Amino acid sequence: MIKKCLFPAAGYGTRFLPATKAMPKEMLPVVNKPLIQYGVEEALDAGLSEISIVTGRGKRALEDHFDISYELENQIKGTDKEKYLVGIRRLLNECSFSYTRQTEMKGLGHAILTGRPLIGDEPFAVVLADDLCVNPEGDGVLTQMVKLYNQFRCSIVAIQEVDPQETNKYGVIAGDMIRDDIFRVTNMVEKPSPEDAPSNLAIIGRYILTPDIFDIIANTEPGKGGEIQITDALLHQARNGCVIAYKFKGQRFDCGGAEGYIDATNFCFENYYKTGKAY
Ligand code: UTP
Repeated sequence: MIKKCLFPAAGYGTRFLPATKAMPKEMLPVVNKPLIQYGVEEALDAGLSEISIVTGRGKRALEDHFDISYELENQIKGTDKEKYLVGIRRLLNECSFSYTRQTEMKGLGHAILTGRPLIGDEPFAVVLADDLCVNPEGDGVLTQMVKLYNQFRCSIVAIQEVDPQETNKYGVIAGDMIRDDIFRVTNMVEKPSPEDAPSNLAIIGRYILTPDIFDIIANTEPGKGGEIQITDALLHQARNGCVIAYKFKGQRFDCGGAEGYIDATNFCFENYYKTGKAY
């Protein structure tokens, strides 16, 4: 059973400057909740209650968010404002939170390796909180992926079809189709130009990884952009037939940039906030 979920959250968030100059990108609110809270809720809904967060300098607000604020609790105790804290209290009651710091930003692969002492030798999920994933009609994306892991017992990456002109923003896979929404990955390339892309199936910010990934990352040389790329480490597993790509059900918003962030805000306002499901 998978219990742990790792949130790499040490990046600089340069696409959202100046908002992210002194505030973690993961704390940007989508309507009334920070991005990271949506991610932790998705993890808990999938049964993953051991939350590990890789932070960096200037990210203390993340730890404070997942803690009790006694003054605030006292202030609103017994008032109708208590309803605003129902969701976050549930997370504090049902999840454990642990943190480690990535001192040098050497890429997503390196951030995941930094989380190794918190994860140990067991399969785990990875959530990039700036990819907000929703599926109001059914299971959350991580819940869907955990079910798939229980079937295949190997690393799983969530994918979606993207505009072929946009492959240079993603890790892109090639694979053998097992079902119309499931592929066994045969190749993957980090941020290929459209002419070099093996497909338009792009990896988004949800993964389930088997723990052998740590040794593989440790032996992975810096790749595209001089960073240690998780895509390169996953390719190693894929060559042994051990990576499944899954076209998830639901919607994903890239909240690391303004356009996706605004779309997510509009979606959450209509579907959660206005319908009273936002806390
Ligand atoms: P991104 O490239 O989307 O994040 O990395 P970024 O660097 O924060 O954003 P931009 O591109 O400058 O705007 C994907 C995820 O990996 C984490 C980021 O926090 C983000 O969640 N990450 C990336 C790390 O934790 N450490 C790194 O060294 C790099």
